[in-house]
Amino acid sequence: MIIMGGVNMMKGLVVYGTRYGTAKEIAEEISRTLKDENVDVNLLNAKEIRDHDVLAYDLIVVGSGIKMGKWTKESINFLKKNRDILSNKKIALFVSCGAANKEKSKANGQERYLDNISRDYLTHKPIATGLFGSVYDPNANNGLMFKFINRFIRKELEKEGKDPTQRIDYRNWDEIRTWSKNLIK
Ligand SMILES: Cc1cc2nc3c(=O)[nH]c(=O)nc-3n(C[C@H](O)[C@H](O)[C@H](O)COP(=O)(O)O)c2cc1C
Repeated sequence: MIIMGGVNMMKGLVVYGTRYGTAKEIAEEISRTLKDENVDVNLLNAKEIRDHDVLAYDLIVVGSGIKMGKWTKESINFLKKNRDILSNKKIALFVSCGAANKEKSKANGQERYLDNISRDYLTHKPIATGLFGSVYDPNANNGLMFKFINRFIRKELEKEGKDPTQRIDYRNWDEIRTWSKNLIK
């Protein structure tokens, strides 16, 4: 907590791991929302963190995009490396994943990408977990695996009667902002 003009300002850290930029944009929105709520926020890409001192923060939000069931290794390394200090902090976790895009796969995503991560890498329960959607982009050019997945999703969309030639952003920005605001309540 820092004191500015006699007002206590909460200090927050938002750390994200991303492969295609989707979780980065979510982390940016979380960060913006917290700033609007007068939190002094630092936003960091887990890939660029070397020895960042997390002791001074009141609230730490950590998130990642999911690939083949996994967080990025850098975001997991952040949790591992800071395990002891994080045990005394308010922690919130979020993911951006395809499982969040459909009602029927949400419970599975919550368990695999959030509850299991909390259990394995935190010493206490996070104050919140956020399961956020992904982006379907038929024109994205992010390698063979990406193409393969998009081809699969394209078929699913066709089955649902949706137009697979159009980009679909499954992230619900209102939900993300409300989730962020609730972190400091
Ligand atoms: C190669 C690949 C593998 C993926 N694997 C999963 C997965 O196992 N589970 C899931 O829910 N979503 C999966 N997704 C969807 C991603 O989690 C989603 O696109 C997410 O927004 C990516 O975040 P990022 O851009 O921050 O890396 C996969 C996407 C790709 C391209």
